[in-house]
Parts: sequence; structure tokens; C-alpha cells
Amino acid sequence: MDKYVLITGASSGLGKETAKKLAQEGYRVFAGVRKQEDKEAVEALNPNIEGVFLDVTSDESVNCAFEKISEKTDKLYALVNNAGVALAGPVEYLTIDILKKQFDINVFGAIRVAQKALPLMKKGDARIVNISSMASYGVFPFVSPYCVSKRSLDMFFNSLSVECKMPELKIISIKPGVVKTPIWNKSLDECEKNMEFLCEEGKKKYEKEFAFLTANARKNNDKGLEPAQIAQLVSKVLRVKNPKLSYNAGNDSVFARLLSFLPQSFVNFLIKFGLKKRMGE
Ligand SMILES: NC(=O)c1ccc[n+]([C@@H]2O[C@H](COP(=O)([O-])OP(=O)(O)OC[C@H]3O[C@@H](n4cnc5c(N)ncnc54)[C@H](OP(=O)(O)O)[C@@H]3O)[C@@H](O)[C@H]2O)c1
Repeated sequence: MDKYVLITGASSGLGKETAKKLAQEGYRVFAGVRKQEDKEAVEALNPNIEGVFLDVTSDESVNCAFEKISEKTDKLYALVNNAGVALAGPVEYLTIDILKKQFDINVFGAIRVAQKALPLMKKGDARIVNISSMASYGVFPFVSPYCVSKRSLDMFFNSLSVECKMPELKIISIKPGVVKTPIWNKSLDECEKNMEFLCEEGKKKYEKEFAFLTANARKNNDKGLEPAQIAQLVSKVLRVKNPKLSYNAGNDSVFARLLSFLPQSFVNFLIKFGLKKRMGE
């Protein structure tokens, strides 16, 4: 098969698993990584994988990556916007730097890469797959930066799909629930570090909820879907003739979608009530 796919954030988790799966199926995969050791590790998975250095927050890095890609091909079949981080904290005390970082990677990064990819997608059938999240549906307390970033990602790309003068381009959002990947521990380490920088007043106000939620979220490392299940879904949306605009992956994601049909005031009540109950208040 001579179909080229670029996957961002392919050093671990869903990106790495997807690179492996697509390469096994015969796609030629450009796997976005940021470290030499990750390039070597991902290339060792399959000869169809070529690691490319790609930091989605840097114009220079993205330009260099596309120079490398253009040396190999002038036609990209698919871009999988997968690179992402999850940042959290109480809105009342969130620093603007945290918000900027969240958006730089999850939203502006995906747009930056897509803008470079689109000229290579002009000829014939092409696809952009965004790894969004069930968080895109809304309220998960203390994870607002992540939720808002995923909703924004979906909205930006939905606008693109309406505006774009490429009738054969298909843009698909995959919204996984919890998947067993390193994202949980990485994010929680960062969140706990950020909590340390909160003022005394902020710590006092939210310490209890935050400690409870972070302890719970650490357990997500060991539960939820396998990354291979998301890789399988990406493979499917690249293969089927008419993929849907949006896919939920996992019962928790389906549940989040169903909740989103209810009135916001009722959803907020349920979430507040549920949190208090689980915390034994
Ligand atoms: N795991 C879940 O439960 C879950 C659920 C829903 C959605 N998702 C989404 O799935 C995607 C992949 O996450 P994951 O769970 O597989 O976590 P992961 O293993 O932590 O993977 C995140 C990837 O993003 C890369 N990345 C971070 N910042 C980057 C940057 N500035 N430029 C380029 N790459 C960058 C990381 O590279 P480095 O190794 O170089 O940092 C890593 O390869 C994310 O968009 C996440 O929001 C995950």
C-alpha cells in the first residue's frame, strides 16, 4: 500500500499503538516524536514506520517535519492529530500559563499541523482524525482546561470541514473514554506540582477535592480501554468509505454523550451531588 499517514505524539500510548497497527496494515507511517530514543523505539516496531521530530507547539519543528515528509511523498492520505496533554486545576486559581500550555498543544498544535498537511491532501480521498475525548462533552470538575481544549479542537475542525474546499476530505473526531496510557500519571504529576504553587487560600479551599480526584484518576492507569482498541478504531475510520463525523469509544464516553443531551443545570447538579457522595460528605 502506498498510503502515507502522519501521527502526532507517537512516542507512547494511543499514538504509538496506532502507528504500530497502521504500519502492520501496510500504511507508510510518519510517527511524530520529540526524542531520539523515541524515534528509534518507534522505528523498531515496523519497517513501515519512520520517526519524524515533531513538536506541535513549534512552527520551526513542524516546518522541518514537513520538509522531511515532502522528501518522501507529495501526498498524505491521513493526519492523526493525537499529541495531547491533560492539565487540571480549580478555575478560580488556574494560571493563564497553564491554560496557554493546554491550548498550545491540544488545539493550536493540531491546527498548526493540519494547515501544513492540507496542501498534501489535495489530491483525492484524504482524512484528518482528531483524537478528542469524552471530555469534549463538558463538565468534569477540576479538568476544565482539558475539557475546553477538546471541545475547541472539535469545533475548530468542524468549522474546517464545513469551510474547506476539498470535497473528498473527511474529518473525524474520536472521543475515547478512559484508556490505559501514561497520560494519567504524567498529567497528575504536573497537576500536583501546580497545586503546590497555589496560594494558601486556594490550597485550603480545594485541597480535599483535588486530593480525592487525583487519587482516583491515578487508578485510570490500570482501567479503561486498551490503547489497541483505539488503534483499531482509527484503522477503521481510515478504511471505511464513509466514516461518521464522530465516534465514541468506551461506555464512559457513550454515557458522557448521553449526559450532554440533558439540561446543563441537571447535569451540574448530578456531578456536584456525585462528587460529594463519593467523597463521603
Ligand atoms: N488515555 C486516555 O484515557 C485518553 C482518553 C481520551 C483522549 N485521550 C487523548 O489521546 C491522545 C494521546 O494520549 P495518550 O493517552 O496516548 O497519552 P500519552 O501516552 O501521554 O501520549 C501523549 C503523546 O503526546 C505527545 N506530546 C505531548 N506534547 C507534545 C508536543 N508539544 N508536541 C508533540 N507531541 C507532544 C507525547 O510526546 P512526549 O512523549 O514527547 O511527551 C506523547 O507522544 C491525547 O490527545 C489525549 O488527550 C486519551
